[in-house]
Amino acid sequence: MEQIIALDEFARDTLKGLSSENKYLLSKYFYDKKGSEIFQDIMRMPEYYLTDCEMEIFQTQKEQILSEFKNGGAHFDILELGAGDGLKTKVLLSHFVNQQIDFTYSPIDISVSAVTNLVEGLRYDIPGLQVNGLSGDYFKMLGSFNNNGNPRKIALFLGSNIGNFNDAQTLDFLLKLKKSLSISDQVFIGFDLKKEENIILKAYNDKAGHTADFNLNLLVRINRELGADFNIDDFYHREFYDSSSGKAESFLISKIPQEVHIKMLDKTFSFRKDEKIYTEMSQKYDLQMIENLANKTGFQIVRNYVDKRQYFMNSLWKLKS
Ligand SMILES: C[S@@+](CC[C@H](N)C(=O)[O-])C[C@H]1O[C@@H](n2cnc3c(N)ncnc32)[C@H](O)[C@@H]1O
Repeated sequence: MEQIIALDEFARDTLKGLSSENKYLLSKYFYDKKGSEIFQDIMRMPEYYLTDCEMEIFQTQKEQILSEFKNGGAHFDILELGAGDGLKTKVLLSHFVNQQIDFTYSPIDISVSAVTNLVEGLRYDIPGLQVNGLSGDYFKMLGSFNNNGNPRKIALFLGSNIGNFNDAQTLDFLLKLKKSLSISDQVFIGFDLKKEENIILKAYNDKAGHTADFNLNLLVRINRELGADFNIDDFYHREFYDSSSGKAESFLISKIPQEVHIKMLDKTFSFRKDEKIYTEMSQKYDLQMIENLANKTGFQIVRNYVDKRQYFMNSLWKLKS
């Protein structure tokens, strides 16, 4: 199996989501082998501005980022939660290695193939980098991180990973993360900023249909792993954005009234015409929201880095003293 999630957990979550009055599926199940590949296509699309913006921040501000990470020069461990293909992180890592900085890099991802490919690629691309890849659910791994500040840790949560949580999950994640850190540790988080609606909608409703494929692949995965009979052509993907809350949300929508049987659950689910299955949140932020989030969860902002269009922000935090 591609992800190290037990099949019964996938079955349980699918049962819960599809039995709910407002049907939903969890976005962490997007990333089977095919899903991780499609996500790489999404990152390469011109409409998906997030990758370019964060890449620009790292390329143009890597020196300042390094100087904050060094924080006096001691050895540090970089833990990247949900590292994916590490495309942008590599810009920072190779700069740090070129500067002969003493650090280790531990990418963590629920997708086994993502971690394996990343670690193999890094050995080739950045010789001399000390790397230790870990596969698993970062929620479950957070508890094992605290080693009383020795060595100092910097937790990276890049892209718009944090935006995929709803409000309660965001607080829960940051509070758990805080518990796993010591006073000299830091957190470096990517936040997609609020911007014109059509720029956001284009990024999640791309012409080539990669985002639609990414969402529909979740049904393909349920068919394969849980023995379901979803007819993929009878569903389509839609994105909605609410500019006041900053919430961009993805749905799969049933084109017709239909029934789907899932063998492993021994259950049939009915879908009305136009009924939605909620699949993913992509929260957009403003500076006030980011400051409130840090405050509420016991962090303080060390420094913010933005791209030239001010579409994206990487925010460096430490524990409130
Ligand atoms: C949206 S991608 C972003 C990847 C990368 N951070 C970037 O900026 O390009 C999210 C990544 O997080 C991983 N992921 C999602 N939920 C996870 C979880 N609960 N535990 C560990 N990894 C997770 C996925 O497999 C995927 O590689």
